[in-house]
Amino acid sequence: MGWLPCSGKSNTKANKSKKKKKMEEMALDRLKPTSEKSKTDSSSSGETSNRGGSEHIAAQTFPFRELAMATKNFSSECLLGEGGFGRVYKGRLESRNQIVAIKQLDRNGLQGNREFLVEVLMLSLLHHPNLVNLTGYCADGDQRLLVYEYMPLGSLEDHLHDISPSKKRLDWSTRMKIAAGAAKGLEYLHDKASPPVIYRDLKCSNILLGEGYFPKLSDFGLAKLGPVGDNTHVSTRVMGTYGYCAPEYAMTGQLTVKSDVYSFGVVLLEIITGRKAIDNSKAAGEQNLVAWARPLFKDRKMFSQMADPMLQGQYPPRGLFQALAVAAMCVQEQPNMRPLIADVVTALTYLASQKFKPDTQPIQGSRLMPGTPPRTKRDRDKKLNGGNSSERDRTRRLS
Ligand SMILES: Nc1ncnc2c1ncn2[C@@H]1O[C@H](COP(=O)(O)OP(=O)(O)OP(=O)(O)O)[C@@H](O)[C@H]1O
Ligand SMILES: [Mg+2]
Repeated sequence: MGWLPCSGKSNTKANKSKKKKKMEEMALDRLKPTSEKSKTDSSSSGETSNRGGSEHIAAQTFPFRELAMATKNFSSECLLGEGGFGRVYKGRLESRNQIVAIKQLDRNGLQGNREFLVEVLMLSLLHHPNLVNLTGYCADGDQRLLVYEYMPLGSLEDHLHDISPSKKRLDWSTRMKIAAGAAKGLEYLHDKASPPVIYRDLKCSNILLGEGYFPKLSDFGLAKLGPVGDNTHVSTRVMGTYGYCAPEYAMTGQLTVKSDVYSFGVVLLEIITGRKAIDNSKAAGEQNLVAWARPLFKDRKMFSQMADPMLQGQYPPRGLFQALAVAAMCVQEQPNMRPLIADVVTALTYLASQKFKPDTQPIQGSRLMPGTPPRTKRDRDKKLNGGNSSERDRTRRLS
């Protein structure tokens, strides 16, 4: 698990990329005074609030000493998990009497500093109930730590895959609520944030769960500001997680919000089927979830076989059909055939609102059904539909 670069001809059309990069930098410049202030503040040992530069900045700086104390010196008994960029610990901040999750970035990580900065900037400026809250950070010397609200139920991945027999299995309604909440977080990034934000690393381990399985998106280190002006996409080095990366993005490095919609489709498929995006322990044709699912989408009779066996048949058949229809549209090869995340939210909010009892079925249809073309808006499509479709959806690691 962890972030890894996917392949791609990301360095072709160098001039074009350069221009796009400049635009992205210009957009990022809007945030710059904050970053500079952050660096200054981090050298102080006090708990300085960063509100001075912008009324949106709520993240606090912490001295390293306080975070070491909070985690019993980063003891293994406090370890919550480990990702591609470092370890995450549960900690108690004495000064605030608050339980938090503290991510200590690997000091050997070459790219960690940029991701750290992006994470702090993005999470300082973006606020939504379905995005994890950044309590603060520490940039003392070469230490880089991020302090988040503690999410007591861990990640969605912990509840879907390799679960211990003692752990409660996610029921259908909870799964639909998690999917709808995650989609709402993405909708905020795509449609409410200005300029739009492309998340780039949507996957089950980055959907954290609070009380009542309330989902929040986490890990914004790879997030990108979306295209501005007449641009249809941003060009970037291809980064993401194998199995979740949209094919056109893996192939060309051209990033649009539709790349996120693809990743969301993969997550939704995992939620419905209980299978992993990539599972090397399965037979050859079943290792890649999307490749396995695509032929099955064509035959409604196969749908019940796609449901997670852990559900033990406890799902509304029509709800299953509709949820699979949404997932199928999200993972289409052609980015412009994928729905807008706003429509996904509508469909999943409807599915999540359906009270499921084993003997009853939902009665109304969803707006997003197979064969229904996704809603298009000319002005939105202009910024959304960049990138070429590709037959290949394989990704590979850069050296
Ligand atoms: N705010 C949090 N509250 C509770 N647990 C958390 C929190 N943040 C992370 N975790 C736990 O720590 C684990 C590691 O998180 P981390 O983001 O470092 O890695 P990852 O998401 O598994 O992989 P990647 O580095 O590719 O994002 C998560 O899977 C989750 O179980
Ligand atoms: Mg993560």
